[in-house]
Amino acid sequence: MQVHNFEKVWLGAALLLIVGFIATISYGTVGAGIAMVDDSGGQIDPQAVQSGETGTTFDDPGVVKQNDSHYVVYVVAQQFQFVPGSGDNPIQVPANTLVTFKVTSADVMHGFAITGTNINTMVIPGQVAEVTARFDETGTYGLVCHEYCGAGHHTMGGSVEVVP
Ligand code: CUA
Repeated sequence: MQVHNFEKVWLGAALLLIVGFIATISYGTVGAGIAMVDDSGGQIDPQAVQSGETGTTFDDPGVVKQNDSHYVVYVVAQQFQFVPGSGDNPIQVPANTLVTFKVTSADVMHGFAITGTNINTMVIPGQVAEVTARFDETGTYGLVCHEYCGAGHHTMGGSVEVVP
């Protein structure tokens, strides 16, 4: 069988494109630190989250200091706010410290993204999403819900204050 040179070039280009697509996808999930929700953060009863009777830190969510170099932030996402995070209740964490966000939902699916960073996870009722980060620079970062969660979705946001 004879393959025309021109055809070989296009065959090569097509193969290169496929490899490129696969590389892009795996870079996004493996290399770039985009967290997909899995069960590593544990599971939780969303009804209990809603009534504040989980028997865990999610009953009184907030920033919990583990030690001088590690903080854990418990956040409950609900229609249409982050607790803490939204309104006059910003999340406050120190710079240059490991910060683990544990986020769960009290109702429907939400998103949890901190603008200007690669902190981005889905928040699924029943699951605890876990993302660990370190902020190099102080300042106020925006917090947004990026999953459609109902009529007030576009108002669901907040802020993270990184302090010295
Ligand atoms: Cu919560 Cu969109």
